[in-house]
Amino acid sequence: MTGVGRGSGKLILCGEHAVVYGHPAIAFAVDRGTSVDVVARPGPTTLDADADDARLLGALHTVVPRDGWAVKVRTDLPIGRGMGSSAALAVGLVRALAAARGESPDDAAVEDAAMPLERAFHGNPSGLDVALSARGGISKYRRGPPRSLEQLPVPGWTVVVLDSGEAGNTADLVAGVAARRPGVDRALERIGALVGDAEAALGDAAALGPVLDENHALLREIGVSTPRIDELVAIAKRAGAHGAKLSGAGGGGVVLALTPSGRGATFLSHLRDLGIEAWECRPWTRT
Ligand code: PMV
Repeated sequence: MTGVGRGSGKLILCGEHAVVYGHPAIAFAVDRGTSVDVVARPGPTTLDADADDARLLGALHTVVPRDGWAVKVRTDLPIGRGMGSSAALAVGLVRALAAARGESPDDAAVEDAAMPLERAFHGNPSGLDVALSARGGISKYRRGPPRSLEQLPVPGWTVVVLDSGEAGNTADLVAGVAARRPGVDRALERIGALVGDAEAALGDAAALGPVLDENHALLREIGVSTPRIDELVAIAKRAGAHGAKLSGAGGGGVVLALTPSGRGATFLSHLRDLGIEAWECRPWTRT
């Protein structure tokens, strides 16, 4: 019995941290992700992974039995940068095992089966990463209760992702924001309101850019950016991005830059000349 499965990564376009307090956020699945191959064979389950993460083997057993499988994981997502690498792994694994067993679970069943692995990495995650990884597209999300996930029309733009090389700890960053309330409540409310502006401007990169810029300024204000992230945002803006912001919990991670259409390649080579790890991403939809 063999099976192959894939889960995609994600980026948060607008609304991180405010989403913890009931505001909406917009996030999209990206055309990068994690592929998993499984082969049934006797003996203890083995893992061959290109990502070196000590938590991986323990987390794996929340989804895969301890005996009977050889698991191979390949990813082009950066690990621990807020791009949903654990959710992509979880969804890829669940789909690969289901394929090997001849099952075809629907998206909701894939999400349910993937959540224990996501929890092994993130404690009490909202489920947004797993939902996007399983379903693709771009969604407006509210954590609830009740949770809501509204699919939005998929825009034609691409983004350039700039890697800070630093990993942030989501749980610590969320706790830090909580500790700074009520001082940061006005900023959190403004971020929530910006999500409406982002939705209205979704199809128009030039109009969306300033919304992302303001979102980044507010993320700085609530204390989750870093000097390196601010520097990458400034570099992206100077290079002509419509808008740029940190994406995800912060404390490192990645910057998302919205580039003028057709300019992605020039933009990327400029960043690479500066020694910045960067790549182009577009919203991923299931075909
Ligand atoms: O680390 P990420 O990209 O999964 O971002 C977490 C997003 C937060 O809003 C900071 C936390 C959350 O649970 O929504």
